[in-house]
Amino acid sequence: MNTPKIIELPKFLDARGNLSFVEQEKHIPFVIKRTYWLYDVPGGECRGGHAYKENQEFIVALSGSFDVVLDDGLKKKSFTLNRSYYGLYVPKGLWREMENFSTNSLAMVLSSTYYDANDYVRDYDVFLKMKKDGKI
Ligand code: TYD
Repeated sequence: MNTPKIIELPKFLDARGNLSFVEQEKHIPFVIKRTYWLYDVPGGECRGGHAYKENQEFIVALSGSFDVVLDDGLKKKSFTLNRSYYGLYVPKGLWREMENFSTNSLAMVLSSTYYDANDYVRDYDVFLKMKKDGKI
């Protein structure tokens, strides 16, 4: 799968509170090697100005809301995440920014690779050149 996609997860609505879950290779198209989360993001801050060469992600707004802007080098698309029962599948090779974090928002990110600083492309011009040359 190499297009970004909002994926709706199972939800069990209950007077005691709701429950959702995600299973690797069933709801999302990869094995989960890593989970990280973003929290206490100050108003107006942006995260994640980079692309990954290999890593795929699934991003869920466990609390609050934020926007994920994806860019394939030709066009940009913005996804608003504001429910804990769906998330955004982000294939490898896209430039991504996260912005407009609401107060107390909590972003959970499931990743297909272990952390590897060499998997990041952090320079947008380099990213565009790599796209043009089919290297990402
Ligand atoms: P970074 O990926 O730049 O954050 P974001 O994409 O949210 O803006 O990561 C910030 C710092 O955290 C950077 O020094 C690398 C470190 N880090 C890890 O050590 N392990 C991880 O799994 C992640 C995502 C980041």
